Amino acid sequence: MTDSSHGPLLGVSPTVELATAAPKAADALLIAAFRGDDGLEVPGSALLDADAVRATFDALSAVGATGKSGEVTRVPAPSAITEATGARSIVAAGLGESEDLTDETVRVAAGNAARALAGVGTVATTLGDFALGAAVEGIALGGYVHRGLRSSELEDPQRPATVVFVSSDETAATDFERARLTAEATIFARNLVNTPSNLLYPESYANYLAETARSTEGPAGGVEVEVLDESALEEQGFGGILAVGRGSARPPRLVRLSYRPSGATRDVALVGKGITFDTGGISLKPGAGMWDMISDMGGSASMAAAVFAAAKLGLNVNVTATLPLAENMPGGNATRPGDVITHYGGITSEVLNTDAEGRLVLSDAIARASEDKPDYLIETATLTGAQIVALGERTAGVMGSEDFRDRVAEIGREVGEKAWAMPLLEEHEEAIKSPVADIRNIHTKREGGMEFAGTYLQSFVGEDIEWVHIDVAGSSWNGGSPYGYTTKRATGAPVRTVIAALTELADKK
Ligand code: BES
Ligand code: MN
Ligand code: ZN
Repeated sequence: MTDSSHGPLLGVSPTVELATAAPKAADALLIAAFRGDDGLEVPGSALLDADAVRATFDALSAVGATGKSGEVTRVPAPSAITEATGARSIVAAGLGESEDLTDETVRVAAGNAARALAGVGTVATTLGDFALGAAVEGIALGGYVHRGLRSSELEDPQRPATVVFVSSDETAATDFERARLTAEATIFARNLVNTPSNLLYPESYANYLAETARSTEGPAGGVEVEVLDESALEEQGFGGILAVGRGSARPPRLVRLSYRPSGATRDVALVGKGITFDTGGISLKPGAGMWDMISDMGGSASMAAAVFAAAKLGLNVNVTATLPLAENMPGGNATRPGDVITHYGGITSEVLNTDAEGRLVLSDAIARASEDKPDYLIETATLTGAQIVALGERTAGVMGSEDFRDRVAEIGREVGEKAWAMPLLEEHEEAIKSPVADIRNIHTKREGGMEFAGTYLQSFVGEDIEWVHIDVAGSSWNGGSPYGYTTKRATGAPVRTVIAALTELADKK
């Protein structure tokens, strides 16, 4: 399919709603369970009075529920509860020991529960009593299903549940809406990443972002879009993006998305890697596992999602995303190992390995973003396999200006997107030099591969800009089974980290 108006394949996810009282007719109740000193504990709530707590406790105990973190137990509702609410079953999500309760425990419990709710219909829950935003994110993200083009499931889809959060808390509406929009942004990124590369390529991706920009409106304004096609990229000297895109029949694009609410004083630049497929180019990757490289545009998807979320949330901060989109293919016109290219802004680079393509497109984008003299620059990419070797599949590597780097890594851990600060290495300042260009795109050894890529990018960051580079090669993609609120394949990381960072950088109104 080469229809350039094609957008991503959309997944489905539970609908979340907020209510001040229990809905009149629910199909199921989702409640919290704790693990106390003497085993299972069932807290009272707006859904369960003292008698209902006792009956529910008995039903859960009878099937061995313990309340431990992550446990999900579904039992037939005691008859008094069915009479009062219509609910025929009760789903208990284990939150572990109440003293150890964190937002992440609630997100994980809600995420596990969400998968047990598919096809249930309407579910009333008081899980939000323990952290409303976390519970909303956990349900929406954990219950996400992406069917791709599986025709059997299209004929017989398991309808995701509608989950009604019951809360009479004063701040509930604000917390609920913030979490709902954050989950929506994460799902926006997941959908793009999960769409195969024959359907999503630079032109169709750029068109979809442009359409989304035109239909996004927030309380403080919308999002403006600019798309540079291959001839504009040529005219303006985006040598890195062109070098990567030239081996593909599908030309590259540079997308700029800008949200500028009036009165904001801080400028934040976002940059994200948008390789719609990474074969490695002439430095071709091995066949086994290459299919996962449909996820190599996850950085750009996250940054686009963050700009749209900033607008919908009405954050009081200027945000401009610069997203280089290209397909890395080994066509007859492809860049060769040994070629020397000129990046946007003039720095020259010897391309020794065409599979180290992310840094080539990102450098052009970072140089362009730096021209606007932002106060902060946040960049994210599925940049190196070395990131996964160093930190595993679930923890992002964070490099950049020391204080900002440390804070962003901490924010990542706060929102449940694991992240760890990594150093840039002094020895790479020498190692990056080339005999025929200003710099070269790979090191001669494998050690410190994540950090070397960070040093490459650093060469393009303008002066006096607080910058951070988040390598999400591992954490943006879950090749295994679902766990907590992390579903299979695209995870959406680091969307929630970036939204939280923007929220922190925004001027308070
Ligand atoms: N997109 C890959 C990095 C990657 C690997 C992401 C595995 C997710 C999972 C990147 O473009 C790449 O190929 N990097 C090379 C760099 C090397 C040639 C210096 C790598 O990591 O092998
Ligand atoms: Mn590559
Ligand atoms: Zn890549």
